[in-house]
Amino acid sequence: MIYTLLICRYLGKKSYSFSLNNVCILYLESIKYAMKHNRVSVIGAGNVGATTCYALLLKNSTAEILLSDINQDLCEGHVRDLSDALPFSDTSKVFSADLKEAGKSDVIVITAGAAQKPGQTRLDLVDTNKKIIASILEQMQPGSGSVILMVSNPVDVLTYHAQNILKERPHGKTFGSGTYLDTQRLRGELSSLLKIGESSIHAYVLGEHGNSQFVAWSESSVGGKPILDFLESNESMKRDIAEHTMKEAYEIIAKKGSTYYGIAACITEICESILYDQKRIFPVSCRLEEYNITLSMPAVIGENGIEKIIKLNLNPDEMKLFENSMNQIRPYL
Ligand SMILES: NC(=O)c1ccc[n+]([C@@H]2O[C@H](COP(=O)([O-])OP(=O)(O)OC[C@H]3O[C@@H](n4cnc5c(N)ncnc54)[C@H](O)[C@@H]3O)[C@@H](O)[C@H]2O)c1
Repeated sequence: MIYTLLICRYLGKKSYSFSLNNVCILYLESIKYAMKHNRVSVIGAGNVGATTCYALLLKNSTAEILLSDINQDLCEGHVRDLSDALPFSDTSKVFSADLKEAGKSDVIVITAGAAQKPGQTRLDLVDTNKKIIASILEQMQPGSGSVILMVSNPVDVLTYHAQNILKERPHGKTFGSGTYLDTQRLRGELSSLLKIGESSIHAYVLGEHGNSQFVAWSESSVGGKPILDFLESNESMKRDIAEHTMKEAYEIIAKKGSTYYGIAACITEICESILYDQKRIFPVSCRLEEYNITLSMPAVIGENGIEKIIKLNLNPDEMKLFENSMNQIRPYL
């Protein structure tokens, strides 16, 4: 009986019945569940794509990793190199395949396209990357069960574009990594300042994954207390933290040409929340239907992609910053 109860809880079933027949069915279902071969496909074998595969592999996030790129030599090189790390992972297979095969995956991570060069903004990449995303989605024909995570920049515009191309699918099945990376940078900075672990800091960068992003200070908290109690409402300190968070990508790109470790870690967390239906909350680029725009808001992410968008009560100043983000990206949609 205890075993049945445990399996029911594991499979998320609400009603328990203890007949022998039901116990057998539940037992078989639990084995099938445990043996499901999850697959994450990563499109684009550049810095972000290859690092994402490595992070997925070392975190044992999925059974199979498929990597795809128009540059087949680069793709094959990464697949063979990554395969050398398989003995250290629970992942059983890393392989390359065409976009059609990638379309059958549980999660499809799109990192293909041009990356920012020093001095470029993310919005400068829009024309090139819109064409690349359209061509990828047309060839791929993603299955109705797969969740698509957009990472290529400008991520908000490209997510909106992808959602329009895939108009038969619910918008929540296609979303972007948005300001999750910026949020983790913000939490890192606040963690050093307050001497409190990042995971206990509930603060969000919202809006555009770009220059018009903003921190939702009024909705941020630590240990149940408003974060502004800790920062003593110091306006210049808040401004410096937000600006430093926004500029971090530019500073890294100026020094080493691109950023990929942080975003790969973010992608891996989001993939796990989808694959294991964890329903964790991430600030991601999602369609805000009332504004007909795609920007970052905290959202619950589970096996169906975005399951709920958390509408924060932004104060009037933050609402103006949110409107500014909308105005920045609307001309590029
Ligand atoms: N959202 C974020 O937080 C975040 C963070 C870092 C980078 N990025 C973005 O991720 C993207 C990738 O960055 P990167 O550093 O890996 O770039 P990269 O130049 O190293 O790799 C891009 C890869 O895309 C491939 N590609 C181009 N067209 C393709 C197509 N039609 N089909 C398949 N593959 C194709 C290229 O061959 C290349 O290997 C960029 O747009 C970058 O701005 C986003």
